[in-house]
Amino acid sequence: MKGIVLAGGNGTRLHPLTLSVSKQLMPIYDKPMIYYPLSTLIAAGIHEILIISTLEDLPLFERLLGDGSQWGCAFSYAEQAEPKGLAEAFIIGESFIGESSVALILGDNLFHGGKLSEQLAALDKIDGGHIFAYQVKDPERYGVVAFDTRNRIISLEEKPEQPKSSFAVPGIYFYDNTVVQKAKNLRPSKRGELEITDINKSYLAEQMLRLTPLEVGSAWLDTGTIESLMEASQYVQALQSRQGVLVGSPEVAAYTSKAISLEQLIEIANKMTYTPYGEAIKSLAMR
Ligand code: G1P
Repeated sequence: MKGIVLAGGNGTRLHPLTLSVSKQLMPIYDKPMIYYPLSTLIAAGIHEILIISTLEDLPLFERLLGDGSQWGCAFSYAEQAEPKGLAEAFIIGESFIGESSVALILGDNLFHGGKLSEQLAALDKIDGGHIFAYQVKDPERYGVVAFDTRNRIISLEEKPEQPKSSFAVPGIYFYDNTVVQKAKNLRPSKRGELEITDINKSYLAEQMLRLTPLEVGSAWLDTGTIESLMEASQYVQALQSRQGVLVGSPEVAAYTSKAISLEQLIEIANKMTYTPYGEAIKSLAMR
């Protein structure tokens, strides 16, 4: 299983913050936003990852994340010239994906808690597509899924005015290799984008789309507005200061998913500057 983090877009809803710097580089409390989705993939054992962003922002991501080898991973980079939709990631990433199955995560989605890592890791040998559902107050802002008591999908709609359920489809998707061809077959939607919801609908039409509702106690935060950005920071701060653990740390994810050894973690810890983040990595390494 390979992974893609999509970190494109203009971040217009966060202007002026994002006039000169990519939204996915904005801080969520003590680390850049992209650390969170990246850590979600790494913790699930997905270590070969393509990062997609704009031409202007790619050098910044490369400076931040490098080739991934420091975390036992292999990162590569590709450009999305215009925000033409999430599904374009599979066309841009075609050669990266090769013959593999692939997970896509959005660079501004933060997941935490529940058994998510285990659930994701179990999708390693996927046949078809797999999406998740999360109950929200404002489903009309998202892809909306309705499903029965056995989690069989009844309908999927992108930003419906009259949502058929209160369950949004969060920005993490797992697909088999046919996703590349499915993406190529799509036509742009009314908003001019290749919609991920249309990919999901084509799996659904083949009866090859599965759904797992995220556990009630787990968190899915999106960070698209200034309020949600602040809330995400407060959430992370509250958890970290209460529990003394890092949320969304690639170092921790790499260590727990065995991409790096204890020796490598100690080596990383020894190079860290004296910050609460560095101290947390050190205490994990010295435990
Ligand atoms: C996109 C998807 C939507 C999904 C959401 C999750 O919305 O189109 O189906 O629920 O991400 O964050 P967008 O960010 O394009 O508004």
